[in-house]
Amino acid sequence: MTTPPAWAPATPENHIDDPRARRFAASHPERPVPTREFVDTAPICLSPSSGLEELWRAIVPETRTRANDLHLPIVTAYATRLCDAYPEADREVVLVATALHDTGWAHVDESRIISEGFRGDWRKAAIRFEHEREGCRVARRVLPDLGYDDAFVERVCDIVDGHDTRHVAFSLEDALVRDSDRLWRFDRAGIAMSCSWFGMDPATYVDRLEEEILPELITDAAHQMAWADLARCRDLLRTEIIR
Ligand SMILES: [Fe+2]
Ligand SMILES: [Fe+2]
Repeated sequence: MTTPPAWAPATPENHIDDPRARRFAASHPERPVPTREFVDTAPICLSPSSGLEELWRAIVPETRTRANDLHLPIVTAYATRLCDAYPEADREVVLVATALHDTGWAHVDESRIISEGFRGDWRKAAIRFEHEREGCRVARRVLPDLGYDDAFVERVCDIVDGHDTRHVAFSLEDALVRDSDRLWRFDRAGIAMSCSWFGMDPATYVDRLEEEILPELITDAAHQMAWADLARCRDLLRTEIIR
């Protein structure tokens, strides 16, 4: 693991002119998006998410791929914290979209997940577009039976579709899901899984989190949580020495 693989840069310019992106940029001009609320930067294991039991039950089969049974609940815990920090966001949309966002991995060719989804130009890999499309299909299949109406389902799908491959947010809810998905990488469970998926040692990985992923976070609350997690993980993993 001496030569870390390259990560393609994010390409926000691809969607910057979309009317939804413009609207969100105009309504939230200050970046990172500030909050006046309390931001909980304690380890994420101290505040698990709650609720959505019926939804979780409905997507158990989808949690068995690509460590979704670790990823989705942890990301949803981060999303819950971000909703507390941005109470003006539609909490139900954020939490449902977060729980569902990666369920599509269960419906793509599993052998291609690591070979394409985490190697080379992984941000633009076809399999990433496929897992977003399949995630929307899961949402449209499970949510109506749980009592969600069409408008709600489409709002969720607007977030699931493009959550990895589109590099600008279309709404505050979209931004909170994106930030939660990235924040998981800063938790020790996310570091452990990501090091193995990307084939990187922990010291290299956390350095790259700071340099390349942290600047992509949209909200100030996410920045605060990421810095706190980063400092804790560096201490815990002794990355100053073990490199
Ligand atoms: Fe994803
Ligand atoms: Fe994800």
